[in-house]
Amino acid sequence: MVNTLKKPEFEELRPGIKVPAKETILTPRFYTTDFEAMAQMDISANEDELRAILEEFRADYNRHHFVRDEEFNQSWDRIDGETRRLFIEFLERSCTAEFSGFLLYKELGRRLKDKNPVLAECFTLMSRDEARHAGFLNKAMSDFKLSLDLGFLTKNHKYTFFKPKFIFYATYLSEKIGYWRYITIYRHLEQHPENRIYPIFRFFENWCQDENRHGDFFDAIMRSQPDILNDWKARLWCRFFLLSVFATMYLNDIQRADFYASIGLEARSYDKYVIEKTNETAGRVFPVILDVENPEFYDRLEICVKNNEQLRAIDESSSPKFLKLLRKLPYFVSNGWQFLKLYLIKPIRVDSLEGTVR
Ligand SMILES: [Fe+2]
Ligand SMILES: [Fe+2]
Repeated sequence: MVNTLKKPEFEELRPGIKVPAKETILTPRFYTTDFEAMAQMDISANEDELRAILEEFRADYNRHHFVRDEEFNQSWDRIDGETRRLFIEFLERSCTAEFSGFLLYKELGRRLKDKNPVLAECFTLMSRDEARHAGFLNKAMSDFKLSLDLGFLTKNHKYTFFKPKFIFYATYLSEKIGYWRYITIYRHLEQHPENRIYPIFRFFENWCQDENRHGDFFDAIMRSQPDILNDWKARLWCRFFLLSVFATMYLNDIQRADFYASIGLEARSYDKYVIEKTNETAGRVFPVILDVENPEFYDRLEICVKNNEQLRAIDESSSPKFLKLLRKLPYFVSNGWQFLKLYLIKPIRVDSLEGTVR
């Protein structure tokens, strides 16, 4: 008799080392940029604030935070079945995202060292934080007997090239949304300790402060380059990045609603809260934010959720490749259309408030 229970859930590169998840439009991205242009950047318009942030990074408040305590030393076999699979996936996605930050910041620190020492040191110290975060998550994965080979990931992941200003929009948002994701889970589990099924969530409170500081650093960099915030192109791009980041998170999380349910969270309300907070935060530096209260916003995202369910079902079917592509086409078109309509929802201008306390 074939014992289907024994079938491995994940492919392994070698025993205990997980094959990284397939890269798709929804998986964490690795970035590279124009290092020379970044090195030439004149930050004098906001140098004091950047130096103050550098002092904070040097203080290294979380130096002793990421230490695994005795609560980790137990068998985690009671997290099993689908919950275990979703849990490993959550840890892998988080680890990959943290690690991609580490790689980018580390490289920036190295390449800017001689030409732009303040920025270089900030990047190097942020890469220190991200290395801790990624390492802590990877260690957690090994509690479930499947870790990532980060060296393998470095060599085999695709890198997306972004001009410096796009790096700033994208990383600013990913740091701030990371902050809101971690703190929201932390506060929820503080209220409902019975749902804290694994000790890593206890670390999120101080952890998210790292992300918040990283976000503040990008806020300060953008302010030192006002031309990337104050023209019509900036408004169009900020809208684009806000929408991309929110839509990606929403589609990913709704697909994994069972994971959030396993820690007592309702994925939709969790995401709506995180989106609302990140959008509000972004308004402190971006010239526009999205009108996420407009009912059309979530209605259209829900259509994309449905489309993606269909796309996954087609992928899992036994149709030949070309037929799959043909069947997928209308859903791709619909997703593109929804994205366009979402993009066209009138945003909220916040730059008229420039100079006032928001
Ligand atoms: Fe991080
Ligand atoms: Fe970060």
